[in-house]
Amino acid sequence: MKKTNILFSLLAIATFVIALSGCTKPKDGAEGAAGKDANESCKLCHNATVVDAIAQEYDFSKHFTGLAAEEEVGNTTCAPCHESEGFKYVIANNTPATFSILTGGTTYTNNYQATQATSIGNISCFTCHSSLHTTYGSADLPALTTTAAVPMTMWGGTKTINLTADGGMSNLCVRCHQPRPITTSATSTGLGNVMDYAALVTNPTDTFYKNYSTSTNKVSLSFRSGNHYGSVGAIYAGVGGIEFGTGYSNSFHTNNASCQDCHMATRNIAAGGHTFVAKGNYNGCNVTGCHTGMSATNTDVVNTKAAIKTLLNNLATKINTLGDGTNPVLMVDATEANLWVGSTTGNYDGYLNIYNASSNPNGFYGKTGNPKFPNLTNAQWGTIINFQLSLREYSLGIHNTNYVTTLLTNSIAAW
Ligand code: HEC
Ligand code: HEC
Ligand code: HEC
Ligand code: HEC
Ligand code: HEC
Repeated sequence: MKKTNILFSLLAIATFVIALSGCTKPKDGAEGAAGKDANESCKLCHNATVVDAIAQEYDFSKHFTGLAAEEEVGNTTCAPCHESEGFKYVIANNTPATFSILTGGTTYTNNYQATQATSIGNISCFTCHSSLHTTYGSADLPALTTTAAVPMTMWGGTKTINLTADGGMSNLCVRCHQPRPITTSATSTGLGNVMDYAALVTNPTDTFYKNYSTSTNKVSLSFRSGNHYGSVGAIYAGVGGIEFGTGYSNSFHTNNASCQDCHMATRNIAAGGHTFVAKGNYNGCNVTGCHTGMSATNTDVVNTKAAIKTLLNNLATKINTLGDGTNPVLMVDATEANLWVGSTTGNYDGYLNIYNASSNPNGFYGKTGNPKFPNLTNAQWGTIINFQLSLREYSLGIHNTNYVTTLLTNSIAAW
């Protein structure tokens, strides 16, 4: 499907170029004015070293290969991050990340949504580069769709991420690579509003989830409950974790490096450039003013990852003590389907070992008939959120060692 589009595009370019050059060439055959010749203007980008080369790198990017855009077409709540037109819509309209009760309604709506018409489109060059094919000149690249500070949808817009290194380019990535909100049940007193994360810290011993009387639960737990995939933005910026205790700080990267430095560094095999892959590419680390000798075997890298893995293991063990001794609280998946396989010794993926509560109101483990998922206090739920955030930032602490170390250490001590 995607490959066919490209072939079609190339044919279209050829046809369009011929048509344009035909009508812009002066009739007497004299040289056209410099820069006005459409063929030349197109060649600015449509040549082997610019669009063609970058499109080949982009073939390796999950932005291109991922299936989520096709799966979520028409879904207005997913579209701000998964559909090209939806992303451009929320940026162009400055759509707020707030929750509110709309006129005539009785429960809360997440306002951070695209429209039905704009909930479509694979993530492409045109998603991130706002000015492509505007003037057909050099100003059209690399102009980015947004570099503005990012209101956090997880926090209903009450917290903001602003990564200022390299002109705020990281904010483009974080607009999508940020956690999603955990919402209360529309039938609870929370009325579907984003949950009150601050209460998890201020009232740590309050009951958050009670397995025998679901009517008092503000959030009805399901295996998917939590903050979705994009935790990198929050961890990298050091904003938005459930901050038990004190001592939070950020690593040097937060204010001095951009996502692009490591994820779009000089290409090495299938990483870097427009593959957006950081794994195994140390070209962005070993630059003047940053590091020398960074590699997969560098002791700083190895020790940092090992230390964070130990903290994740310890927090997982603690969370699992809440279980009944047979059924763990955290789901285990030792297959490649788990994007975080190997990040913990137990191969957790951050999901909960509970059957979907909407069809299983009594909260059984795994499936109906099993024992019940345990009661949770506010603090216990807060540490589960932090476990998800810290696991799903993927890098075992490379993104922001200081923040993730404190978040995990304080979580282990929180209850
Ligand atoms: C500033 C850079 C730039 C210039 C100048 C430029 N293009 Fe493009 N064009 C792109 C990029 C980037 C793509 C997307 C390529 C991809 O998806 O692999 C593209 C895609 C296309 C496509 C495929 C359909 C689409 O919209 O995705 C056509 C047709 C096309 N260009 C024609 C032209 C023509 C004709 C000109 C000259 C009049 C031109 N372009 C000038 C950057 C440029
Ligand atoms: C329009 C939203 C959006 C923007 C902007 C965006 N991303 Fe993504 N990114 C996604 C989505 C969605 C996926 C997963 C796609 C899928 O699986 O279908 C993804 C996947 C990735 C992956 C692969 C993750 C994996 O599991 O292997 C990396 C790395 C990545 N993005 C980095 C970046 C960087 C760096 C930037 C900024 C230059 C960026 N992204 C900008 C939405 C975005
Ligand atoms: C705030 C932005 C955001 C919203 C809203 C969002 N997602 Fe995502 N989602 C992401 C990002 C970013 C990734 C990829 C992150 C990565 O792999 O590092 C992702 C990954 C996924 C994946 C995994 C793809 C894979 O590679 O395995 C699925 C499935 C998914 N999202 C479904 C959804 C659905 C369904 C919705 C709407 C109900 C939704 N998302 C809403 C940001 C978002
Ligand atoms: C996920 C966002 C994203 C997507 C998708 C994306 N780019 Fe980029 N691109 C960037 C960022 C960020 C930069 C760096 C901008 C800067 O350095 O100012 C960049 C830089 C560029 C540059 C100039 C620097 C360079 O690397 O040569 C070109 C040309 C370019 N992109 C073309 C493309 C083309 C062609 C595609 C589609 C095949 C594409 N981009 C897709 C984010 C994106
Ligand atoms: C200091 C370098 C560095 C910076 C800066 C950086 N990353 Fe990463 N990122 C990494 C490393 C290292 C990994 C783990 C790669 C691996 O799997 O070994 C990673 C993993 C990821 C992944 C998972 C996909 C993958 O390839 O494993 C995503 C998504 C991601 N980063 C997004 C971002 C975003 C968004 C930013 C900016 C807010 C960012 N990163 C900034 C180094 C960096």
